[in-house]
Amino acid sequence: MYFELTEEQKMIRQAARDFAQAELKPGVIERDELQKFPAEQIKKLGELGFLGMMVSPVYGGSGMDAISYVLVMEELSKIDASASVVVSVNNSLVCYGLEKYGSEAQKQKYLMPLAKGECIGAFCLSEPEAGSDATSQSTTAIDMGDHYLLNGTKNWITNGGTASTYIVIAQTDAAKKHHGINAFIVEKGMPGFTVGPKENKMGIRGSDTHSLMFTDVKVPKENRIGEDGFGFKFAMSVLDGGRIGIASQALGIASGAYELAKQYAKDRKTFGKPLADHQAIQFKLADMATEIEAARLMCLKAAWLKDHGKPYAHASSMAKLYASEVAMRTATEAVQIHGGYGYVKEYHVERLMRDAKITQIYEGTSEIQRIVISRGLLK
Ligand code: CAA
Repeated sequence: MYFELTEEQKMIRQAARDFAQAELKPGVIERDELQKFPAEQIKKLGELGFLGMMVSPVYGGSGMDAISYVLVMEELSKIDASASVVVSVNNSLVCYGLEKYGSEAQKQKYLMPLAKGECIGAFCLSEPEAGSDATSQSTTAIDMGDHYLLNGTKNWITNGGTASTYIVIAQTDAAKKHHGINAFIVEKGMPGFTVGPKENKMGIRGSDTHSLMFTDVKVPKENRIGEDGFGFKFAMSVLDGGRIGIASQALGIASGAYELAKQYAKDRKTFGKPLADHQAIQFKLADMATEIEAARLMCLKAAWLKDHGKPYAHASSMAKLYASEVAMRTATEAVQIHGGYGYVKEYHVERLMRDAKITQIYEGTSEIQRIVISRGLLK
């Protein structure tokens, strides 16, 4: 075993850390308050190559490894999880899916601009009646010969209003159940495609979450990804990698909250000495740091398995389950250490606590991760 990062990985991490301090930190409280999408910051992240991190340079990507992706996600998420979720969805759910399973024409037309950061993508699986139970798709795509006719509604779609390219999962043959599900590339502006209002969320309020409506949208046949009936496996497969991204986002929220709490504990005095001199606070910090280190190792292990072409679904679910629970616990304790100051916006930890909650819900709830993990253990 070798725990040292390469020089290149360290440089990538430093670049993400510097970017988060210089570009994400200013205005993060205001963007959260106003639910403002970090458009300028996302454009710059695209210019840095962080929106197509793992895509081959042949298709406009940066050709980095999944370990670097974890490092970048942690650094960005320490400061602004609303921005980092865009990075995660674009890299894992959209670019990875297109590069691994898309046709050459789909890669040229859709992957290239997404990987270069010229536009962003969205992944549309969830529906009003199909969240965790993802095989129960009500959105239909009827084969009309040279095109599919798409009808239905998707809910809670990250980048819903700002994306240009949408990967939409739909049922093409209900009789075949999940073997009759397909994934389609849908462009913004296709007639019959409407974006609903932005959701007013508890956390990651800067991220752009919408419902989407499809009414008789004509999707060209060549926009189906993979063989007929491959859509459910496509969705599950991209989520395996997506969960590494969200695990790393949770890790970043936890480490961001921990760093703020540690600094506050050194600065703030109570009963004539710094908070950090009280054993009650020292023990909280010790627990936070230990759990964060465990979560980090789990994220890096899942990424290492992916980089080495080994099965990683089990490890990514474990990392997401654990890191998201660590994020929630750590952010809550960080607010506690800050006391009254922790409950107001200027100190950042209340936002991190609100942001942490979504990591236990999206890309598969903690309960879904336990299903995936236990099935893997018992099969
Ligand atoms: N890779 C490839 N194929 C897979 C797979 C994987 N990881 N997991 C399952 N499959 C295949 C199975 O082999 C099976 O195929 P066969 O019938 O041919 O053998 C098929 O998929 C169905 O699998 P299951 O029987 O296990 O299906 P299930 O109904 O029991 O559900 C589940 C499995 C794990 C619960 C799944 O429904 C699931 O992951 N649900 C959660 C969905 C989710 O994560 N949604 C997140 C929305 S996206 C999002 O949040 C993005 C964002 O905005 C940030």
